[in-house]
Amino acid sequence: METLRLDPKKDAAAVRTAAGIIKRGGLVAMPTETVYGLAANAFDEAAVENIFRAKGRPQDNPLIVHIADIAMLDELCTDISDMARNIARAFWPGPLTVILKKRPVIPDVVTCGLDSVGIRFPSNKTAQALILEAGLPLAAPSANTSGKPSPTCAAHVLLDMDGRIDAVLDGGECEIGVESTVLNLTGDVPVILRPGGVTLEMIKKIAPEARAADFNRTPDAGERVLSPGMKYRHYAPKAPVTLITGGAADAARYIEAHADKAGLGIMCFDECEAVFRPLTPYIHTYGRRDDLLSQSSHIFSALRAFDSEPVKRIFVYATGDTRGLGMAINNRLSKAAGFDIVNL
Ligand code: TXA
Ligand code: MG
Repeated sequence: METLRLDPKKDAAAVRTAAGIIKRGGLVAMPTETVYGLAANAFDEAAVENIFRAKGRPQDNPLIVHIADIAMLDELCTDISDMARNIARAFWPGPLTVILKKRPVIPDVVTCGLDSVGIRFPSNKTAQALILEAGLPLAAPSANTSGKPSPTCAAHVLLDMDGRIDAVLDGGECEIGVESTVLNLTGDVPVILRPGGVTLEMIKKIAPEARAADFNRTPDAGERVLSPGMKYRHYAPKAPVTLITGGAADAARYIEAHADKAGLGIMCFDECEAVFRPLTPYIHTYGRRDDLLSQSSHIFSALRAFDSEPVKRIFVYATGDTRGLGMAINNRLSKAAGFDIVNL
C-alpha cells in the first residue's frame, strides 16, 4: 500500500482525511506530545489486528486507547475511584496513561484479553483534532516496528512503517520524546508501570502513597508481569548498547580501555562531546546534563542515528539519576542497553 503523507501545516484537510481513513478501518500514524502513535478505531477489531501486524507486535502486549474528552473515560471504564478521577483531572490532557477496569465496549484485541485498559488523553492538538474529527477513541501503540526506538518525528515513522500503513499525519517533532507514564489505578495504591513525563513526584502530590514498580530489570522467563510491555526488548538500535555513568573523563578512559575504537558509537551530553571526540567520529548528543526535557526529547532520535552509521558497539553516557523525568530517561536508556550498565 502507498502511505499518504498528510501535513496539517500545508493542507487544511489533512486531519479530516486522516479521520476518514480511521473511520473506514485504516491505520494512521499520529503525532502526540510523547511519541508518534499508530492509530486505529478502538472499536474496530479488524483495524486493531492490523496494528499488531504492521508493527510485528507480540499478541499479548495490550494497546493504549486515546481519548480527547475526559467524559469518554466513563464510557470505556468502570470502577473509577475518586482518586483515579483526581489524578486524571490533574494530569490530562498530558503524558499519562491510566490503567482502569475496562467496560465490554472495548474489544479484547485491544487489551489482549485483560480486564483492564490503558486510557490516555494526549495534549497534542493534532492528536486531539484527529480523535474529535473521527468521533472515536483511538487504539494506538507507539508507531515503531516492535523492539525499535519509538518514533519522535514523521520521518522516523516512515523508516519503519512506509508501505505498511495508510497515512502519517506530520505534526513535527514530539516535545517530550519518551512514552507516557503508565499508571495502574486498578489497585488501592497507584503504581507506575512505566515512567514518563508525569513523574512520581508529581503523582505523589495527588496520591502520596503512589509508588514505582520494579521496572528496571528483565523479568525472568515465565514470570507474571504487571505490564506485558515490561518483558520485551525495547528501544534497541542495531548495535548493542552499554550504559555508562560517572564522571565524563572516567567514562572516556573506561571506554578506551574496554572497547574497540573501530565501529564505536557514543551518545553523551552536549557539553561532554569534546571529552569523547578523540575516541570516535560517531557521536550523538542528546541535550545538556542539566536539561532533562531536552534529553528525553532526543533519546530515541540519537539511538536511531547509529543505525545509519558503521557502528558495532554503542556506549551511552548518562547520570543514572532517577529524580523527576530522570526516572523515565534512565529507564529507556537502561532498556535500550538490555540492562548492560557500568556504574563508575
Ligand atoms: O506515550 C504513549 O503512551 C504512546 C503514545 C502513542 O500515546 N503510546 C505507547 O504505546 O507508548 P505502547 O503500546 O508502545 O506502550 C503501551 C504500554 C505497554 O508497555 C503495554 O504493555 C502497557 O502500556 N499497557 C497497555 N495496556 C495495559 C494494561 N491494561 N495493563 C498493563 N499495562 C498495559
Ligand atoms: Mg511502544
